Amino acid sequence: MAAKWLKDAVFYEIYPQSFRDTNGDGIGDFNGIIEKLDYIKDLGCNALWINPCFDSPFKDAGYDVRDYKKAAARYGTNEDLYRLFEEAHKKGIHVLLDLVPGHTSEEHEWFRQSQKAVKNEYTDRYIWTSFCFEGAEGYPYVGGESERSATYLLNFFKCQPALNYGFHKVTKPWQLPENHPEALATREAMKDVMRFWLSHGCDGFRVDMAASLVKNDDEKKSGTSAVWRDIRRMLELEYPDAAMVSEWSNPPLALRAGYDMDFYLNERGNGYSTLIRDYQNHDGEDHSYFKKDAGGNINRFLDQYLTWYEDTKDKGYISLLSCNHDTLRPRYNLDEEELKLAYAFIYTLPGVPFLYYGDEIGMKYLDIPTKEGGYFRTGSRTPMQWSKSANLGFSTGNSEDLYLPVDPSEDAPTVEAQEADPSSLLNTVKAILKLRHDHEDLQADAPFAVICSEPGRPLVYRRGNLILAVNPDGNAKEVKTDLGKAENIFTLGTAEYKEGTLSLGAQSFAVFNV
Ligand code: GLC
Ligand code: CA
Repeated sequence: MAAKWLKDAVFYEIYPQSFRDTNGDGIGDFNGIIEKLDYIKDLGCNALWINPCFDSPFKDAGYDVRDYKKAAARYGTNEDLYRLFEEAHKKGIHVLLDLVPGHTSEEHEWFRQSQKAVKNEYTDRYIWTSFCFEGAEGYPYVGGESERSATYLLNFFKCQPALNYGFHKVTKPWQLPENHPEALATREAMKDVMRFWLSHGCDGFRVDMAASLVKNDDEKKSGTSAVWRDIRRMLELEYPDAAMVSEWSNPPLALRAGYDMDFYLNERGNGYSTLIRDYQNHDGEDHSYFKKDAGGNINRFLDQYLTWYEDTKDKGYISLLSCNHDTLRPRYNLDEEELKLAYAFIYTLPGVPFLYYGDEIGMKYLDIPTKEGGYFRTGSRTPMQWSKSANLGFSTGNSEDLYLPVDPSEDAPTVEAQEADPSSLLNTVKAILKLRHDHEDLQADAPFAVICSEPGRPLVYRRGNLILAVNPDGNAKEVKTDLGKAENIFTLGTAEYKEGTLSLGAQSFAVFNV
């Protein structure tokens, strides 16, 4: 049921403030994204996810939307954004916007109206208790800021009041049931926002905190899932090619709720975290699978991944990613050689993968002060490093005016330098993505099966008629396995198959046609 164009989609996530500034004000803009579409295409990405680019006071980098239908002036006008859709489409690139359905900014006009003592159309658009001193049953809330004698629920930061989609289990008089007309009105308002952007050429949405809509929901998120299934029915009728990816990190639930894809996010202790960011799972120790000689065990990932994969393979896609704007960059603990193998793995798995801007050149995580509610996340949000020129080619403005500082180090990686080096991380990513586009067996739908995942041995897996093998270890490794007349079609490092023995050099990756 997933949109057809996702079969061979590889997404590129753009944090618009930091991608490319074309008017010298130090902040990235829509024209900057348009200027770099050829770069993105050439990299092998044919779809974009742009972080929130709507009018906002930017207390949470734009995840506090003040006007859902208006582009943030600092990035350009609505017309510039429509032109971005158009130019992207000309190059065969689809564009997803970031939909934030769970909350708005406290400066949104709906909330201004909702705060009033006199009842109006927006009184129940947000969740209010019945009295100025009443707590919100375990949900975070704010009191004392409104004319109305009530406290309101928050969805995230203090600046983000929760929109009202009702309660699955109602336990207090101020909680509306999920099918209450006012709860349904919020849902309709969100459909209206979606229709607005889809009618102007956007191809779908990445959905922020997708599981957060209906409160007091059950473990299976039945209430919130019903909302999404209803929204999916609208899309099927009106925009059947639209694609939706959820920030949920529970593909079995999200895909049943009607999503095309769900992110497998980095969460402490989960399978994905053990591939790249295992240092977060321990005090100081790092057994990340792709860290050379760290003794990582791939089964910590596979156990969770395979369960989800088997459960969802006919329903939609799991989306793996290099990183996102909330996560420490993979270069934080992996060097370029380690990253090559991590990307080779992530981008040859089923589903629809995402690449976070700058990870293709191994941009570093910078230790810098917080900006716009970023806190530790700020270090993963610094300007894209295009070249060795001023501001690393991000902006022609003054360096003091930049949204965030560029990487000041001598060896800051740049697109320009890596384009000139055939063995660079950038050129390796290009080669891997090209391989994926050239072989249907490496794309979203082709089956996946594990052949060898024994700790201390290379990981060997099958995608359709291809056999892939990866050895993140600093020593050469062997696996006894019968691959018939295997023909090697792609290698990083060294690899050979001969008479039942697959030999992989230190830190290598290989693909065989069988
Ligand atoms: C999501 C976003 C994050 C934001 C939060 C609140 O997790 O990815 O950046 O701060 O939701 O909207
Ligand atoms: Ca600008």
